[in-house]
Amino acid sequence: MQKTALYETLNGRLRALLDGERDFIANAANTAALIYHTLPDLNWAGFYVLHGDELRLGPFQGKPACTRIAVGKGVCGTAAQQRTTLVVEDVHRFPGHIACDDASSAEIVVPIIHQGRLIGVLDLDSPTVGRFDAEDQIGLEKLADTFVAAVGKNDER
Ligand code: SME
Repeated sequence: MQKTALYETLNGRLRALLDGERDFIANAANTAALIYHTLPDLNWAGFYVLHGDELRLGPFQGKPACTRIAVGKGVCGTAAQQRTTLVVEDVHRFPGHIACDDASSAEIVVPIIHQGRLIGVLDLDSPTVGRFDAEDQIGLEKLADTFVAAVGKNDER
């Protein structure tokens, strides 16, 4: 399936999966699981949630990961600080990259923003250098929008 079509299908499935549920952890867990088991060539998919000036590990699929990342550190903390999606072709060339799983070679981090406020980030890792491109960025940003729409103003996280 073409990437764009795959993301459209995935977004429809995510909307259906989150429909009627506003709980942050439940929706984050299902979002991570759906992404991990639908997109090819991933070794990690999940959330880091903003608490003050640090990101804390949220629901994910993959190997155990580091629990706290300061805003501004690593790929996740940099994406959070800049409030912009980071597509990293080769994490070993990203200064300050935080290695959680040795298998990770490429990474994409999408900030989760609700009404102008950063809530956390969605992080995907792949064992393949150059795995993520602009189509992944567009597709994942749309998934992040679907997630934010579902959790709405729920501040319990
Ligand atoms: N590589 C990330 C850390 C999180 S793991 O990839 C799950 C980073 O540099 O922020």
